[in-house]
Amino acid sequence: MKKRKGIILAGGYGSRLFPTTIGVSKQLLPVYDKPMIYYPLSVLMLSDIQEIAVITNLDYMSQFQRLLGDGTQWGLNLSYICQHSPDGLAQAYLLAEGFLDGAPSAMVLGDNIFYGDGLRDLLTDARDQTHGGRVFGYRVSDPERYGVVGFDSNEVANSIEEKPVCPKSNYAVTGLYFLDETASKKAKSITPSTRGELEITSLLEIYLNEGSLSVQKMGRGYAWLDTGTHASLLDAGNFVRTLQHRQGLQVGCPEEIAFENNWISLEQLSDAAIQFEKNEYGEYLNKLLTSFL
Ligand code: TTP
Repeated sequence: MKKRKGIILAGGYGSRLFPTTIGVSKQLLPVYDKPMIYYPLSVLMLSDIQEIAVITNLDYMSQFQRLLGDGTQWGLNLSYICQHSPDGLAQAYLLAEGFLDGAPSAMVLGDNIFYGDGLRDLLTDARDQTHGGRVFGYRVSDPERYGVVGFDSNEVANSIEEKPVCPKSNYAVTGLYFLDETASKKAKSITPSTRGELEITSLLEIYLNEGSLSVQKMGRGYAWLDTGTHASLLDAGNFVRTLQHRQGLQVGCPEEIAFENNWISLEQLSDAAIQFEKNEYGEYLNKLLTSFL
């Protein structure tokens, strides 16, 4: 089996954040002290994935490239794919078919933040699943806004519905999808929903119907935050700020993960610490560096 590749879906309209996102991509906005896309990028890195495609609107692609480059500063191999029109999350698997080239994938939405003790284990376990798909169910108070999972009496998922009027449970499917190498082929058989989108729930339903979708509950010790509205963006920023200040540890720091994963050298870590020396992010990298000298 080929090594799992990553996809960050960072296109979309961002219309709930207008007027802010008229001139800038949502996923480039700051969540406290770093660009939003650093958080989903970190999730893929924690999943031990190094070959990653970033899907963006044509208008903003050069800005993402300026920010993230080719990924070598983090030991990654980054490429960029254009989504000309945001026609739904499942479209990513059609756009990324060439990039995936028959490899299994992990796709994360560019505006989703995950945090919690043991996240790395949860992710690497999903990465190691060789067949079918793995998604995560997260308890929310307003399930009708999301794709919702129904469970049978043995807690096995038996339905997935997009924004149901009468949700079968409180468990929303998070924006992180580990799918096997058949995802692009399956995505081709999906037709647009009544709102005109290729829905990720339609793709997941195909896996569910063939009995190959595992839905793992992400327990209450995890945070899954979405940053798509002004209030949720501010909440996410405050969440990150509170944790970082209290613990003195960074949330979503690609340099730290790359270093822990042995993907970059001490010299590369030092370069980043120097580049950011004017702020706390750089100070943090410098502390990390000196603890290894
Ligand atoms: P949404 O938050 O559902 O959509 P949006 O970002 O366009 O925002 P709004 O609803 O305010 O207009 O998208 C979730 C994530 O998926 C987000 O990171 C954008 C991304 N996305 C794409 O990249 N392409 C798409 O076709 C869609 C629907 C979303």
